Amino acid sequence: MAYSEKVMDHFANPRNVGEIEDADGIGEVGNSKCGDIMKMYIKVEDETITDVKFKTFGCGAAIATSSMATELVKGKTIPEALQLTNQAVMEALDGLPPVKVHCSVLAEEAIKAAVSDYYTKQGKSLDTEIENK
Ligand code: FES
Repeated sequence: MAYSEKVMDHFANPRNVGEIEDADGIGEVGNSKCGDIMKMYIKVEDETITDVKFKTFGCGAAIATSSMATELVKGKTIPEALQLTNQAVMEALDGLPPVKVHCSVLAEEAIKAAVSDYYTKQGKSLDTEIENK
């Protein structure tokens, strides 16, 4: 199994690791097959993600995809962040081996879970917000 240089870089030097104590949204997702867990924290101002951090208890590809996903949504608006797909995360990392695709799905889901939590805290629902866009 060969990993791209970008995957190795984001695994060895993950960006945005940690927690945000006063986060506006926190999302935690897990993969039932491998047992890996990913937690994302977002800080939101004027519908823009001003800060994002993650903690991943998981494989190297899960760490690399979390790191890349945080880089891709930082500074983006909430609707833009919701457009993030695992495909985009994989492309930004120059690809993943097929058996590791599910790790990138976890990253997409973790961002969505954090946004969903943000909406819940605002008294809104993610589903209604998406429908209204
Ligand atoms: Fe499950 Fe990577 S092996 S997230």
